Amino acid sequence: LIIASNFKTNHNRKSTKEFIDFINSKNYFSEVRIYPPFTALNHFELTSNIRVGAQNFYPTQKGSFTGEIGFEQLEEFEVDTVLIGHSERRHILGEAQESICKKYDFAKAKECEIVYCVGEPKEVREQGIEAVMSYIWEQFNGIDIDYEKLVVAYEPVWAIGTGLSASLGDIEEVLERLRAKIKAPLLYGGSVKVETTKDILSIKNCGGILVGTASWNVENFSKMIEISDNI
Ligand code: PGA
Repeated sequence: LIIASNFKTNHNRKSTKEFIDFINSKNYFSEVRIYPPFTALNHFELTSNIRVGAQNFYPTQKGSFTGEIGFEQLEEFEVDTVLIGHSERRHILGEAQESICKKYDFAKAKECEIVYCVGEPKEVREQGIEAVMSYIWEQFNGIDIDYEKLVVAYEPVWAIGTGLSASLGDIEEVLERLRAKIKAPLLYGGSVKVETTKDILSIKNCGGILVGTASWNVENFSKMIEISDNI
């Protein structure tokens, strides 16, 4: 199982290092991913099942893209896992499918693990499962779903950072429909908490969780990994 923490715009260099050192000292056997802010990337000495990645990047090796981070800057810290298509990038930062595809193809050419995020907004969820799936399949336009280092994260927009998780039945239904076409591990994300981790990880076809808010506290995040280790 994959247990991933997306720090978003939280933690600094010092607290990130403390967080990672703590997790790294525990000898968990679940696959752990931690996505800190760019400024906290570093040469971490990690056990093989823990990887530190990037929440975003600009699809270039290096160049003149003021304010952006290219792959040269990620490679300095051996980053080999990235998030692409996160709802906050799509909906708050206005990333269109076309630029998401450019990032995807760039990271794929780099043979980097891609955690590709998809999920519907509330008004689509209210129209039922068929509307949800057609919205989600559109988010796969131009995306190579057979890429061997792909991990898909289903994250309903209305469940992210709201404390309102999708129901177990709704998650199971979406994962089952994704599984019909996609071989990659399937994660769920959206207000996952320590108390809901076990039930979510027990859903059929669920290969892990991508967690924001509840994971920023290192004790909570380690509890989630322990739960996963015991499944
Ligand atoms: P949340 O964020 O756990 O705070 O809902 C999840 C995510 O954005 O990946």
